[in-house]
Order: sequence, then structure tokens, then C-alpha cells
Amino acid sequence: MLKQISDIVIEAGEIVKKGFYSEKDIKHKGEVDLVTEYDVKTEDFLKDRLHKLFPDCTIVGEESNYNASDYPTEHVIFIDPIDGTTNFVHGVPFVGISVGIMTEKEGRYGVVYNPILNELYTAETGMGAFCNGQQIKVSTTATLINSLIATGFPYEKDNLPYLMKILEDVLKATRGIRRAGAASLDLCYTARGIYDLYYETRLKPWDMAAGLVIVREAGGIVTKLDGRYHDMDSDDLIASNGLLHVEFLNLLNEIK
Ligand code: 2AM
Ligand code: CA
Repeated sequence: MLKQISDIVIEAGEIVKKGFYSEKDIKHKGEVDLVTEYDVKTEDFLKDRLHKLFPDCTIVGEESNYNASDYPTEHVIFIDPIDGTTNFVHGVPFVGISVGIMTEKEGRYGVVYNPILNELYTAETGMGAFCNGQQIKVSTTATLINSLIATGFPYEKDNLPYLMKILEDVLKATRGIRRAGAASLDLCYTARGIYDLYYETRLKPWDMAAGLVIVREAGGIVTKLDGRYHDMDSDDLIASNGLLHVEFLNLLNEIK
């Protein structure tokens, strides 16, 4: 099944790749939240092909105007056709196609594909996580001061003072911060041990679903920002190699 999902996602990658190197028709969903015809085209392609493979699954895609609170708890496919749309529009090659398949709110399959850099991340619960067929694991970094942290910022700017305070304290406590602009790939880089920890707020299920399976299967742990169990109703997260989690939560607790 994972191979069949991956083949569909790789095919969708051709649409994204073509768009990446072409002139794009850009529309605004919000003041800074963008969408192009390629987001819509890729999502339509994925929905059509995945529906044939999983006829009983509800498909929730970023561009389909699904009300997040409406989706059923069983057998859901979350699709982000282009994660990192701002990167896609500006020509930054950090874009991912993200397909996560959940049963009873638990991840079952995760596939994230960066068609520009040719990186395919795959995982199935209980079977490990892979990048281009090679097994991947989270890092072994055990202290924040030796760690590289990733984050992202929400489109809505109402919570900026709190996020800036976190940023300041994380900058002081770690080796550095990266902000690459695609949540699904940030999770994959954490799974691969490139980033030691990744946190972000205001995410949607399609940003996270696939990457969550991948990072957990690579040996990582994921919680909400307050340290509690993370499920698909959560809109913030910390994903880490496990070793840094408590130290990071302690740092956040001091900010509150
Ligand atoms: P997108 O590119 O698909 O819109 C950037 O920080 C990352 O977070 C990207 O993965 C971006 O997804 C996502 N993101 C940021 N703000 C978001 C929001 N308000 N809703 C959904 N996704 C968001
Ligand atoms: Ca998107």
C-alpha cells in the first residue's frame, strides 16, 4: 500500500515540478496566505487517484475548503498538495507534497515528497521511516546547547509577542534556529536527524499528518506545546529526538 501511495505522490510531483519552473497565477487566501493553480491541480489529481485506492476514506485537502471540525475520526486522508506555498511562489526549493492517512486519529501511512530536491519520505506505523528507501532515525543530540532547532511562523500575527519571546529564549539556549517554511519537511528533517527538534503553532492537520507518522517511526516523539499528547485536533506541536523534549518543555514553561 505504501508503495502505491508513494507512486501516486511521485506522479503528483511532476505537476509541482512543472509549476515550480513556470510562471504562476497567484491568488490570496488571506493577506499573506497564497494559493496557485498548481496547488489546486495537484490536490485534484491526488484526490482522484487516492479515492480509487481508498474508496472508504474521507479525503481532507487544504484547498477543498473543508471545515477542520467536520472531518470524521475514522479513515481520513489528509492532503497538502504544496506545503511551503510561499517557497513555491518565490522559487525556494523547500516544498513538499504531503499525504497522511489516519485511522481513528492515529497515523497509519505518511508520505512526503520534495520533487525539486528529489527526496521521498515514507513511513507506515510499526515499519520504520525511510528517505529514498534508506531507513532514517532521529538524532542523538542530548543537550539543547548542542542542538539545531527548526520552527515556523503562522500567517496570523496576533500571537507574535509570545512567539518572539520563545524565539529569543530558544536562540540563547541552542546552537541555532532554522525557518525553512514547510512544516511537513521540517518534520522529515527532524525524523532524519538533521534538525534535533522542531516546534510550531497554528498548524492544520494536512501540514502535520504525514510528517507525524514519519517522525514517530524514526524514533522521535511528538507532543503539544504544553507537553500533552498530540492528536489531529492539536494545532501546535513539538517534535524531537526524545532526548531534548523535557529540557525544551522546561524552557517554554519559564516563559509563561
Ligand atoms: P502552507 O505552505 O501549505 O501554507 C510555514 O510556517 C508552514 O506552516 C507551512 O507548512 C505552511 O503551510 C504552514 N502554515 C503556516 N501558517 C498556517 C496556517 N495558518 N494554516 C495552515 N498552515 C499554515
Ligand atoms: Ca499548502
